[in-house]
Amino acid sequence: MWQIIGAGAIGCLWATNLLRDGQQVTLITRKNSQTQTLNYQDLQGKRTSFNCRLSTQLSNRDDPILVCVKAPQVKQALLQHRHNISEQQAIILMHNGMGTAEQVTKIFPHNPIICATTTNASLLNAELNIIQTGKGATYLGAFNEQGKSFSILANKLNSALDDTLWCEDIKQKLWLKLLINIAINPLTAIFKVNNGTLAKKHFQRQIAQMINEVMPVLEKEGLLFESHMLLITINNVIQATAANYSSMNRDIYFKRPTENEYISGYLLKKALQYNIETPLIRSLYEQIKEISHQVK
Ligand code: PAF
Repeated sequence: MWQIIGAGAIGCLWATNLLRDGQQVTLITRKNSQTQTLNYQDLQGKRTSFNCRLSTQLSNRDDPILVCVKAPQVKQALLQHRHNISEQQAIILMHNGMGTAEQVTKIFPHNPIICATTTNASLLNAELNIIQTGKGATYLGAFNEQGKSFSILANKLNSALDDTLWCEDIKQKLWLKLLINIAINPLTAIFKVNNGTLAKKHFQRQIAQMINEVMPVLEKEGLLFESHMLLITINNVIQATAANYSSMNRDIYFKRPTENEYISGYLLKKALQYNIETPLIRSLYEQIKEISHQVK
């Protein structure tokens, strides 16, 4: 059985696809819900409803926990369920940004910790009601030694949503997603534009500068990225999601906490550690912080 913490767009996307595949799911939500029905509209517009077990508590101390809350909520969400998590239970972290695995390891030093990143996209239309908006790939990989023997989990998830792969070098995949988020999210949030607007010359110059700033950090981290390829990848995402508003743009718009600390903030901590200047990334990070304070 899967226990999924977080009934947001990604948690519900996995829950519906796992249920459709005949796997058992308990969706762990913050408050008791009247309804036990998950409504799903796939990319072809086909609507399906699934009965799903909902609970405010983790109940099974063996099966894997898929954590789909946003990065700033991960630590608190797991702390809240701490007494229902056993040492051998695998914890999978799936969200934008980096830095939570380090936090979780401190709280659960013996547990297998697995990091995951996905380019599947969905929209939470209403409570327990999602629309799939994009088909992508999902990568999972071990964050610690204990996590290394859990590649079977990727097979189970792949059976529900294909293009899900176990990855020996998950760090490279996590960083790539981080770099995409560093380039797209703050600019779209500060300038209140959709992703596609970043194709404009003015923004392209800023994205190129950000890439220049991150390159020495990536080198120090032992990551193999080529700046030109990175720009192409970022622009492919901009094109593929042109009509969408980034998650940070939405968070600012709806006056919600952002993932700033786990996106640009994570990069800034690394840059500081290596004594590397990243002025544009810092300035955008500060601007997001400023706007977030204003909306509180
Ligand atoms: O955070 C987001 O919105 C997404 O990760 C991405 C890839 C930037 C597309 O909008």
